[in-house]
Amino acid sequence: MIPLCVPVLRGNESRYLNECLTTNFVSSVGPFVDRFEREFAVATGAPLGVACVNGTAGLHLALREAGVGPGDRVLVSDFTFIASANPIIYQGAQPVLIDSEEHSWNLDPALVEQALADGVRQGRPIKAVMAVHILGQPADLAPIARACARHGAVLVEDAAEALGAGYTAAYDWSGVTLPPCAVPPVGTNGADVVRGVGTVGLVSAFSFNGNKLITTGGGGMMTTSDPAIAKHLKHISTQAKLPGVAFIHDEAGFNYRLTNLAAAMGVAQLEQVGDFLAAKARIAARYAALCQRKGWVFHPQLPGTRTSNWQPSFLVGTRRDALIEHLNKTGIGARPLWFPLARQKPFAGCTRYGGAVADRLGAEGITCPCSVNVSDADLDQVIATLESW
Ligand SMILES: Cc1ncc(COP(=O)(O)O)c(C=O)c1O
Repeated sequence: MIPLCVPVLRGNESRYLNECLTTNFVSSVGPFVDRFEREFAVATGAPLGVACVNGTAGLHLALREAGVGPGDRVLVSDFTFIASANPIIYQGAQPVLIDSEEHSWNLDPALVEQALADGVRQGRPIKAVMAVHILGQPADLAPIARACARHGAVLVEDAAEALGAGYTAAYDWSGVTLPPCAVPPVGTNGADVVRGVGTVGLVSAFSFNGNKLITTGGGGMMTTSDPAIAKHLKHISTQAKLPGVAFIHDEAGFNYRLTNLAAAMGVAQLEQVGDFLAAKARIAARYAALCQRKGWVFHPQLPGTRTSNWQPSFLVGTRRDALIEHLNKTGIGARPLWFPLARQKPFAGCTRYGGAVADRLGAEGITCPCSVNVSDADLDQVIATLESW
């Protein structure tokens, strides 16, 4: 089997894990957690990082910081993995599903504007917008941020799939009050990225699940530019315990900590992120060229943005399921893209703006092997199988 997307652990992972074992720092206290937070912030250009147990937990706390509570409404992409929307439910709020635009497969800014304006007109303003950078492709955040500012909504980012993606100097942020950020280091996010994803919203969350660009087995990181928010994120993700030996807690917190073991993996993986991104770009170029020959639609990239190519994906037409079956039968790990949330039981009753693009992505989208260590021979075999379909 040529797998879809598996971890590659060929750096300092075992050395750092061993260090945790020999020093007995295996749990949530230990030097790797702080180090991972610091080094991750540098890699993304975000001022501050707060580690957490997974990306879903990070999104949950992002929504809490945005003040989302029972009865509130939150805009989210209809076309995304379900974990983008579940935390809205955790907060007792209602997701409002927004279709994708064809140019990036992310939130359609025109529909965001329409839904926010409707909320204000109805006397029930939308509380927050969860902008997902799907499959590593940055969302068109400037018009979304402007609409949020106009209509009083808080912007948060689901950057779970998008470590390494960002915006170049050509991207137009006019009219947006941007939080401070550093330029991500060359070789991490690409030579011409001047703002990484996860540096625009109030809080953003990244995932280190096993299939992500870097993995800690399971893990996540929240980024923010606000020191008070970072401090509070740390506090509520660690049971909201006040400093000192006594068990005194000032609010109902969460056990959303990342372990030192996981953080050790994260530090080792982060050291290799430049190589991983280069490998993903090489793989994506092969699939993009194939799509040109076949007349298939490769995941488009917005001008002024740089994708991380996390999972290069494309639309193959209405015989998608037959193609996936054929690939799987020949030992190739291909999968469909997500059905829209509107078609998933927990979200079937949600208000939906548009939906035709999300429906098409869900019906025709496919993603194929893209592990960073996929061999040329295996990739040749995948491409040849697709080519002859
Ligand atoms: C778009 C998106 N959001 C959120 C998540 C949740 O991350 P995690 O699996 O680390 O909880 C994932 C990945 O799993 C994802 O792909």
